[in-house]
Parts: sequence; C-alpha cells; structure tokens
Amino acid sequence: MHRQARHAFRKNATIRSAGAKSLPQKYFVSPEMFAEEQKKIFSKQWLLVGHQSQIPDAGDYVVQQVIGESLIVIRGKSGEIHAFFNVCRHRGTRLIEHRAGEAVNGRCAAIQCPYHAWTYGLDGRLIGAPHMDEVPGFNKEDYPLHPVNLGLWEGFIFVNLNDGEARLCSEATARQRSGDFISLERWFAPLAGKFSHWNIPKLQPAKRIEYDVHANWKLMFENYSECYHCPGVHPMLSKVSPYDSAENDLTKGPFLGGFMKINPGKSLSMSGNACALPIEHDQEHDKESTQRVFYYSIFPNMLLSLHPEYVMVHQLWPKSPERTLILCDWFFHPEAFDRDDFHPNDGIDFWDMTNRQDWHVCELSQQGIASRAYEPGPYSSREKIPAAWDRYYLRSMEREARS
Ligand code: FES
Ligand code: FE
Repeated sequence: MHRQARHAFRKNATIRSAGAKSLPQKYFVSPEMFAEEQKKIFSKQWLLVGHQSQIPDAGDYVVQQVIGESLIVIRGKSGEIHAFFNVCRHRGTRLIEHRAGEAVNGRCAAIQCPYHAWTYGLDGRLIGAPHMDEVPGFNKEDYPLHPVNLGLWEGFIFVNLNDGEARLCSEATARQRSGDFISLERWFAPLAGKFSHWNIPKLQPAKRIEYDVHANWKLMFENYSECYHCPGVHPMLSKVSPYDSAENDLTKGPFLGGFMKINPGKSLSMSGNACALPIEHDQEHDKESTQRVFYYSIFPNMLLSLHPEYVMVHQLWPKSPERTLILCDWFFHPEAFDRDDFHPNDGIDFWDMTNRQDWHVCELSQQGIASRAYEPGPYSSREKIPAAWDRYYLRSMEREARS
C-alpha cells in the first residue's frame, strides 16, 4: 500500500508546532555554523546532483562541487552511472576543469588528465599512462579513479560522500567511519511507492536556470515550506492556486510537504492554461491530482514540485552562510516535446518569475537576520512545515545522523 494512502493529507492547523520560533541568527550568518553544517549534514547525507535523463548517453557527465570537492558523475558504456573524485591518480591534477562552485555538463570518450595524459575509462579504470610501464612494479589496476557512492531514486541521481571518504581509508578505519552511513534504499524507504505513479524516471529535461542567491540555504527551504507569504509575494500564483489550500501528508522528518489546490481549468503557467501533455500517471491513484500541485522538500538539498503537466526540481548548494547556488530544472513527459500543445516556456517563465520573487524575499530576510536587532520570531499556524523542517535540521546538527 502506498504511504500516501496510509497517511491522510492534513490541513496545517493540525500539525504540532505551538510555540515554535524561527532559528537564532548564528544559523544564518556564522562561518563556524556553516562549516559544521558542511561536516554534519552535507558530508553525511545523500545529495541530489541531477536526473538520469540529463546524462543520457555513454560519456555524458556532470561535474558538481560538493562540500568543496569536485565530483564527476558520468554515464558508462553499458549505461550505468558512476561518480568519481575529479582528481588524477598520478599527481592529483583536476581532470575536468571548472570554476569553483560551478556545475558543468559535457561529454567525453574517456577522462584524460590535462597534465601528463593519464587516461581513465568511463568506469574509472586507468587505461593509459604514458611511460609508466618503465616503472618497476607499476600496475594500472592499482590506480583507478576514487569512487564516490552513488544511487538513483525515482530517476534522480544522488551522491553521498560519507562512504566516499571511508573508501579512501584503510579497511579498519573505513568500517569505523562508515558506521553512520545510511544506504540510499534505507534513506528513501519511507517514500517507497509514493511517487511511482508519476513515472518520474521517464521524464525528459526541458530547461535549467541557475540562480545565485544572496541568502542562507535554510531560508529557501523555510520559504518553500509555507504559502503564508503567497498573497503578497506571488499575486499571480495566488490567483491560480489558493494560498490557504495547503494539505500536508509528510509532516515530520527529512521529507516534508503535501499539495495545494489549483483552481478548476487553471494551470501554473503565464497564460493560466496547461502548457504540455499531462505527465502520465495513474489517475485512479488520486483522481484529484489533476487539480493539485504537490510540493515536497527532500533534506538537505532537493525541492520536488509535481504539477499536472511538468515537474520542477531545485538543487540547493550552499556556498557560504549568505550565498546559495540554486539549479532549477523542468521536466516533461517524453512524448510532450513533439506535440503542438507543448509550450514549456509558459510554465518555466511562470516559475522563473515566482522563483525570483521567493529569492528576493529570502535575500531581504538574510539582510534583516544579520542585524543586531534580529531575534527569533514566532511561527504562525501556517508555518508548521518550516517549523518541522527546522526541528529536523537541528536534530541533524545534534546527532550527525538520521534518527
Ligand atoms: Fe594527471 Fe600527471 S597529474 S597525468
Ligand atoms: Fe513562494
């Protein structure tokens, strides 16, 4: 049975958070706190780096910076996806160049170091090392790229540096250090089957927009988790989706959210009309889903927004206490692209506008929170999900692991 069927959607007012307040200032401005988050959360958890459709062919790759490490996520010859540290096994050179903090996409036949041309296969094996056969005892098999743990959930690619670090240690240290490692399957077990009727693994990407937001990453999660701000900040969104229609089915833990209603005959697009073929999903599962938009936050760097005809996904990459890189991708039904009724920009422009409205108020929040006058303020009855997000975040910072 789907979890969704077991857990009724609830109006905000029934979720516990009496007396909850916004987080203290240090969580938004302190470099020490930021470093602690990188260590206790981003070095331990599964992090979204993309969707399998974004690297469809052998040799397609994405390079992403994760907690200061550069990682290569690449499609192998037999279709499997690997992740490696972007570090040559000869003298350590960066293999695929990119500017600090930048996410890069590309395609290659093999990974070749720009320094002395050591060459690695798409599976990370060292396949070429000029003049190294003259070195006694040298074996190419001993120098594959360092792997990083990788897994797929609903077609989305996640990496986890917790185990990745452990693999670089001796066996004994690895066992000790990977004691708090949680497999991807175990991590996502509470969501098993919940999204399967959306066919997310089959969707195709239409567009990516990057946003460099001058605000702490937690402000975007808190902002995403409530629509208390919608009437003032999003006049157009409020016209098609009533701000007080939220009902949530995930109300505690690392996965939070639910749905909001879409007014009859309307869509989240600039024109207000559907902008593409609906995403194929089992209508029997949820007859009303055509009039709903589902919003879920997946701790600690993913926002998943499911619309009747498209899926929008945000990746959040904290760069400093006051700066966050946000990658926003839009995915559509694979058969939507060749049809006359495909107007992706109608939906994308709507959310680009809405995203920018959100980032703007997050930046204003950051500015005010940095003031000596700031003190935590009380959450309203419409901010139960941000309060629940804060609780899970604080627990992660205390325990360093999911409980
Ligand atoms: Fe890469 Fe020498 S450092 S080949
Ligand atoms: Fe908003």
